[in-house]
Amino acid sequence: MINLRKKFLTAAVLTAAAFSANAQTNRLIINADQGDVTINKHIYGHFAEHLGTGIYGGIWVGKDSDIANQDGYRSDVLQALIDLEIPNLRWPGGCFADEYHWTDGIGEDRPTMVNTHWGGVTEDNSFGTHEFLDLCEKIGTVPYITGNVGSGSVDEMSKWIEYINFDGISPMAKLREKNGRSEPWNIEYWGVGNESWGCGGNMTPEYYANEYRRYATFARNYGGNKLFKIAGGANDWDFRWTEVLMRDIPLNMMDGISLHYYTIPGTWEKKQSATDFTKKQFLETLIKAGRMDELLVKHGTIMDKFDPNKKVKLIIDEWGTWFEATPGSNPGFLQQQNTLRDALVAGITLNVFNKHAERVHMANLAQTVNVLQAIILTEGDQMLLTPTYHVFDLYKPHKDAKLVPHHLTSEKFKIDELETEALHVSTSRSEDGMLNISIVNINPDKEINLDCVLRGIKGKRITGQVVTTDAMDAYNTFDNKNRIGIEEFKNFNLKGDNLQVKVPSKSVLMLRVAE
Ligand code: AHR
Repeated sequence: MINLRKKFLTAAVLTAAAFSANAQTNRLIINADQGDVTINKHIYGHFAEHLGTGIYGGIWVGKDSDIANQDGYRSDVLQALIDLEIPNLRWPGGCFADEYHWTDGIGEDRPTMVNTHWGGVTEDNSFGTHEFLDLCEKIGTVPYITGNVGSGSVDEMSKWIEYINFDGISPMAKLREKNGRSEPWNIEYWGVGNESWGCGGNMTPEYYANEYRRYATFARNYGGNKLFKIAGGANDWDFRWTEVLMRDIPLNMMDGISLHYYTIPGTWEKKQSATDFTKKQFLETLIKAGRMDELLVKHGTIMDKFDPNKKVKLIIDEWGTWFEATPGSNPGFLQQQNTLRDALVAGITLNVFNKHAERVHMANLAQTVNVLQAIILTEGDQMLLTPTYHVFDLYKPHKDAKLVPHHLTSEKFKIDELETEALHVSTSRSEDGMLNISIVNINPDKEINLDCVLRGIKGKRITGQVVTTDAMDAYNTFDNKNRIGIEEFKNFNLKGDNLQVKVPSKSVLMLRVAE
């Protein structure tokens, strides 16, 4: 009996010691009763382009397919998107948007075209405006359409908006009705071109700014619906693009300006493998993902100069990892596997977006199914959810929650000349009072003891969920779909205002504290 008691005491002392080790280094102070900025749920948005099997095969199989479908949409993918509660979906591109002519994608007789950007394949236009907007209705998400500036015309874009939104008698509303839809869709988010500095027309910012003004003038509001007009913004470090657009486009003519940033370890010309990487390449990738913070600060500072009240929002409508295409796949289809490393990229990036919620209104991961950092992969009638999907699921509580301030001191993780903070955190408070703490530990080998001080909340209950596994390069396959998922996490200790957490190595964690 005495021995047993002694053994128990020793274990208790050891646990306390284990929890307090590193307490000096890794410390998180949360002011849970402060903050007045809401994290817009649209930060958790997605993007589906006519690219590879992103739409055809991945979302749309047609009514006559042997693959289980509802009105032509894959039933498994529909359900996965419904479950994730995706707030918005961007379509039809990407680069494809600037060669897309919407009238080819309506009605019975649809001409084919060549998808010159993505593999030179024939596009049969069977997925068009109705199919996209009906998909959004089925999964309960908000549509975001990008219009064609590069090879289109002002008239074409203006009529597309009339077709979608006009509530009354007009030539385009009549055509819509003839094609089976009498009610307007009343969509709000409208992009004026995509990457106009590159695939969208190779324009200068000065030229694009003028074009934007012309196109935006004829992008009309109908009925009570007001468009949220988004100017095609910069590629990552091109600050001049943002500067010129902010200078040359009147603030009352645009609601948002976009920004694209891809996490590409190695170089654009020589990309690295999605699944076969060293620890140093793992770290390089996560450091590059974290640079989103610097980008938002720098583009945000330029915007502040012209728009101190932050009327114009930042829309990061393409982000995510970009690796070498899966060996043996069509390189133009941008198909890549999704490992635990991608989950960490998602966790870090979403934490950064939350941090900049005052300026960042929307973001769209590239891309939803089978393309780049996909949340869903399909093969024939098989479907799996990637680790990235699970991070979006884990982060649901941050949507529309109030961003609360925190101060984090983190130990570093270093390999040779590469070094960064091991921990990345975001904190928010939901409407029901729950405090949400998302934590990423990028160290692939080390569990980290994090000592938290919870101010402004009397934490009584706490729950935890985690996305992790035993290997940094692990991924889900069609034979083993659940290698990485969401698991319950209990390795914490809450006492008064002190919360101690053992953050697993290479993990994304969500803790929820209730009063
Ligand atoms: O997401 C893939 C491509 O990346 C998009 O079509 C384009 O906008 C970007 O360059």
